[in-house]
Amino acid sequence: MDLQLKDKVAVVTGASKGIGLAIADAFAREGARVVAGSRSSTPELEGLHEKYGVTAVPVDLATAEGPQALVRAAVDRHGRVDILVNNVGTAAPRPSFLDIDDAEWQRIFDMTLFSAVRTSRAALPHLLAAGGGALINITSINARLPFPMVVDYSAAKAGLTSLTKSLSEEFAPRGVRVNAIAPGPVRTPFWTAPGGFADATAAQAGTTAQEAIDVVVPKSMGISTGRVTEAHEVADLALFLASPLAGNITGAEFTIDGGQVKTL
Ligand SMILES: NC(=O)c1ccc[n+]([C@@H]2O[C@H](COP(=O)([O-])OP(=O)(O)OC[C@H]3O[C@@H](n4cnc5c(N)ncnc54)[C@H](OP(=O)(O)O)[C@@H]3O)[C@@H](O)[C@H]2O)c1
Repeated sequence: MDLQLKDKVAVVTGASKGIGLAIADAFAREGARVVAGSRSSTPELEGLHEKYGVTAVPVDLATAEGPQALVRAAVDRHGRVDILVNNVGTAAPRPSFLDIDDAEWQRIFDMTLFSAVRTSRAALPHLLAAGGGALINITSINARLPFPMVVDYSAAKAGLTSLTKSLSEEFAPRGVRVNAIAPGPVRTPFWTAPGGFADATAAQAGTTAQEAIDVVVPKSMGISTGRVTEAHEVADLALFLASPLAGNITGAEFTIDGGQVKTL
């Protein structure tokens, strides 16, 4: 299937690892010109630069200036922006709502919601100038589920779901489609890095991090397929939503969670 993404300019946030890296990789393989923003690079991102000419921009997207700098780098390099994937976001496991102070709420919102607000505000004029395009926000099933460990993250993701809907309404008449992807657990460094969610789950269950993500998480979270999602599966969905083949899809949120969410 030709997704018609060749030579489209795609900006991806949080693209050195995990889902963002998989999305950058997938767009680059389709022939898109990818501009990848993260604070640091990785051998995998450098590999995408060597193989496909992906531009890695070192930028802190939790700041007021970072998102503008990323979009400016894309426009300086390619003269336009056709696709924006707001992927960056973070959570930290804590015992209770009562353990999260104002500074921590602010940090999670800066990373998870305001990064997308600011990058969208910087990029949308360029998508409009290009005659239209696609904006994809990576939200989470947590936006709708009660997980006291990550109450701040869940609230920020709910805000991002709302932002998706509002932007889709304003910009659809001008040719910009805005959609969201809401993953359940995805095998990325978010889970697998030392001190990540796999370690936290393993400590609670008295097992290894590997066993935690392969067995404990799918079982305890009720993932019907019996496994977590792989990052490339999220990337494939992002490709389709960015493609002109999805030309009448906007304001929608697509869950990819192996059947974890049981409600309609
Ligand atoms: N993994 C899951 O289970 C899951 C489930 C649902 C939703 N999500 C969402 O999917 C998105 C990606 O998650 P992931 O699991 O792929 O995360 P990850 O493995 O932790 O990767 C995060 C990426 O964001 C970059 N990043 C972090 N802080 C940044 C900052 N201040 N400025 C710029 N870049 C920054 C990181 O690179 P640097 O550290 O070099 O900056 C890295 O490239 C997030 O929004 C997350 O909430 C993930």
